[in-house]
Amino acid sequence: MTLVEKDQKYIWHPFTQMKTAGAALPIVKGVGTLLIDDKDNSYIDAISSWWVNLHGHSHPYIAEKVYAQMLQLEHVVFAGFTHSPAVELCEKLSKHLPSNQGKFFFSGDGSSAVEIALKMSVQYWKNKGESKTRFVALDGAYHGETFGAMSAGARSIFSAPFSDLLFESTHIPFPKDEEAAVESLKVELAKGDVAAFIFEPLIQGAAGMRMYKPETLNKLMKVCKDAGVLCIADEVMTGFGRTGTIFAVNQVAEEPDFICMSKGLSGGTLPLSLTTCTNTIYDAFLGDDIQKAFLHGHSFTGNPIGCVAAIASLDLLEKEECQEAMRNIAARHKIFAERIKSLDIIKDIRQTGTIIAIELKADSSGYASTIRQQLYQSFLAEGVLLRPLGNVIYILPPYCITEPELTKVYEVIEKKLIELK
Ligand SMILES: Cc1ncc(COP(=O)(O)O)c(C=O)c1O
Repeated sequence: MTLVEKDQKYIWHPFTQMKTAGAALPIVKGVGTLLIDDKDNSYIDAISSWWVNLHGHSHPYIAEKVYAQMLQLEHVVFAGFTHSPAVELCEKLSKHLPSNQGKFFFSGDGSSAVEIALKMSVQYWKNKGESKTRFVALDGAYHGETFGAMSAGARSIFSAPFSDLLFESTHIPFPKDEEAAVESLKVELAKGDVAAFIFEPLIQGAAGMRMYKPETLNKLMKVCKDAGVLCIADEVMTGFGRTGTIFAVNQVAEEPDFICMSKGLSGGTLPLSLTTCTNTIYDAFLGDDIQKAFLHGHSFTGNPIGCVAAIASLDLLEKEECQEAMRNIAARHKIFAERIKSLDIIKDIRQTGTIIAIELKADSSGYASTIRQQLYQSFLAEGVLLRPLGNVIYILPPYCITEPELTKVYEVIEKKLIELK
């Protein structure tokens, strides 16, 4: 049996159960932005392997740090124990976070980081003797796959089979229309039962790279501050430079009560996530009463190997070389957008930092859009990995993408858009 035949026998891949999806592609090596398959074909990973990779695949600096840590301490229970990789990571991260973020809670993926922030905010109010259990989020929100994260997110084909089991949350208009979003938020918060407002700052990823302005986000957060409602910034996708700053919330004056991060946290090397919060939140859980404690902990919480990968990734991210690469990507995206914007097939083209999204005129939009699979396959055939979100093609590259590689990604997209027009 070939590898692909064995794969088909055993493996249940995400998102590809439809018979039209075809077999999975065996990847044998990753180097820089390139993924190499078993026939030696290479693919430019223009989506950073689901938005996780920052510095390229199998980066030797991260790999060496991971190897050294494996020989030193691979894992230890994190309840009642600690280690220097976890402490060093928090120390290093706190230099980039809003100054109010004082405490760090580890988990293993973005959905868990969100789930933890949701649970902490409800319990925060409970510990203070108040019952506030409702969440407000944005129209189109995506916060992950666990039940809490799904409940906070917008209802979609992803959550539809579970709709009977999701708790209710309220979705205010997407803040492209700032006034409608601000007014709606004020109305919801006035009801007095909202635990927290959760948002993807500046860019909604899964909804199709929908973007809104820092000034608008600042206004929404200010509404929450004025109403005494907690703010959860879900930076699982936007964190680690994607929006042009290390965190998207670095672009706003208001500070969130919680920040969720994962994906780029370990440079895309190992599953790791963090929920950070203020000392005010933390203090509400302190005391002699076990009922007030946050009784939540995953087996691999604070995994030292993940932590050293994250420290190494941050070392690379902080380098001027990487910051310059991010600025170059943003500048080149802008030139590309100017070049193609008059193509008839384009409905909208938008950019924030290193992410550019091209929304096509299409009969159907959303994840089930028919154009999606066709675009995906044709880009792959040209040696570029792009996974359109419905009728939205986007580039979200690792920062090490070379000038010729980025040129190729643009050319492949432009060629397809001309073909489609
Ligand atoms: C904004 C946001 N939050 C949460 C998640 C869930 O993260 P994970 O897939 O690591 O559970 C994602 C994943 O794409 C995301 O984009």
